[in-house]
Amino acid sequence: MSRKLRLGAFLPGGGQHVAAWRHPDQPLDGAVSLAFHQELAALAERGLFDAYFLADTLSAEIGGREGGSAKAAGFEPLTLFAALSVTTKHIGFIATASTSYEEPYHVARRFASLDMISGGRAAWNVVTSHGDGPARNFGLAAQYGHDARYARAAEHLDVVKQLWDSWDDDAFLRDRATGVYFDPEKVRPIRHEGAFFRVEGPLNAPRPPQGHPVIVQAGQSETGRDFAAASAEVIFTTQQDLASAQAFYADVKGRAAALGRASDEILIMPGLAPFIGATKAEAQAKYDALNALILPEEGIGLLNALTGGTLDLAGYPLDGPLPQAPATEGMKSRQQLLRRIADETGFSIRELYAWVATARGHLTLIGTPVEIADLMEEWLTSRGADGFNILPPWLPGGLEDFVTLVIPELQRRGIFRREYEGRSLRENLGLKRPANRWSSVGSDPGLAAE
Ligand SMILES: Cc1cc2nc3c(=O)[nH]c(=O)nc-3n(C[C@H](O)[C@H](O)[C@H](O)COP(=O)(O)O)c2cc1C
Repeated sequence: MSRKLRLGAFLPGGGQHVAAWRHPDQPLDGAVSLAFHQELAALAERGLFDAYFLADTLSAEIGGREGGSAKAAGFEPLTLFAALSVTTKHIGFIATASTSYEEPYHVARRFASLDMISGGRAAWNVVTSHGDGPARNFGLAAQYGHDARYARAAEHLDVVKQLWDSWDDDAFLRDRATGVYFDPEKVRPIRHEGAFFRVEGPLNAPRPPQGHPVIVQAGQSETGRDFAAASAEVIFTTQQDLASAQAFYADVKGRAAALGRASDEILIMPGLAPFIGATKAEAQAKYDALNALILPEEGIGLLNALTGGTLDLAGYPLDGPLPQAPATEGMKSRQQLLRRIADETGFSIRELYAWVATARGHLTLIGTPVEIADLMEEWLTSRGADGFNILPPWLPGGLEDFVTLVIPELQRRGIFRREYEGRSLRENLGLKRPANRWSSVGSDPGLAAE
């Protein structure tokens, strides 16, 4: 059977592009409107997307640091997704939670709950959180170093999985006649004692319907790739061209193979921000219209964040070159990507922030539905991607364009589904349900009964 594209929809209610909130179609209260997020979820589900994805940082992103003023304040992703799971049936939910500032017990419990509430549609985007902003909200003066963050992340994820496995799938008997609520043989403490965490367990939630919610990761550095190769089932990545995407794909799948993992246990999904028009000129007009709305201070804020926060660009002329910045303890790979784009294009600071304003370094594509589908098909068939994380530049228009114009073209080519295949996110993504490390229950009993 030929491979099919997997599609995520990255849909922050305030819009993706730095200036999206100033676009006339974008609801001004989009970031804090449940009704608007429900509308987006319904539209993404109509387009048969695998999952709705939301990024998250644990600090208020004032000054446009993470992609525009509309990202300064909004919903906590798991809380929002619990609400969205009530008005949808099929689409999965990829919520971001931090291994640096959250405890494994909290994370395991909240994702188990979302998986139950949504009937097996939860996924965890495991992030280490970068920047000093979150650190200062959690009793630290500065963030942990890059390697320390990943060491903590590896132990954190292991503890979360142990907690999800602390109950067997069939532990709850709830037998009125015998008075046995659960089988004591099928629950156990985990008694974890590691370098970062001490957790007794068991979890105060049953084993999730999917066994484990799907694990998503976006590490790009050496340590980040090793972590992703060892544990991620979906990998988000920022790739500007097919050759780099193929190199990343081969590298991560190679690292995973060395750890005994099969190639199809990991889905690699680069970001793609499309401007779509019936003609190229129409698509270009949509791109130009959004870029004309960028406020210089927001452009600078974004570049400051993406270049690692080690240099304040406000002191440099907008039409001059990007200065060299000291190395960062934040997102190392993104700092390097920005440097590379600046060196290869010779962009001024103003041109560079306009270039990354759409999607913070993710591939921006301006074209007709056929041109967009051509690129997606080429990356799929030449092993640069297993799918894409689609970042519509503004909402709902950018998502509507994709659903009504690009999805039918992908279906016509036989590289995207015409209906959802399964009930859970795992089933739709073609990922196995993990066995419980401690119980004898088989590895793939489907969703737990009920
Ligand atoms: C599509 C995508 C989404 C991401 N979402 C978040 C996020 O919500 N919160 C966060 O702290 N980091 C997020 N990151 C950053 C990654 O977790 C990671 O730190 C980054 O890709 C740099 O990799 P490195 O830390 O290995 O250098 C995201 C990255 C990508 C590519």
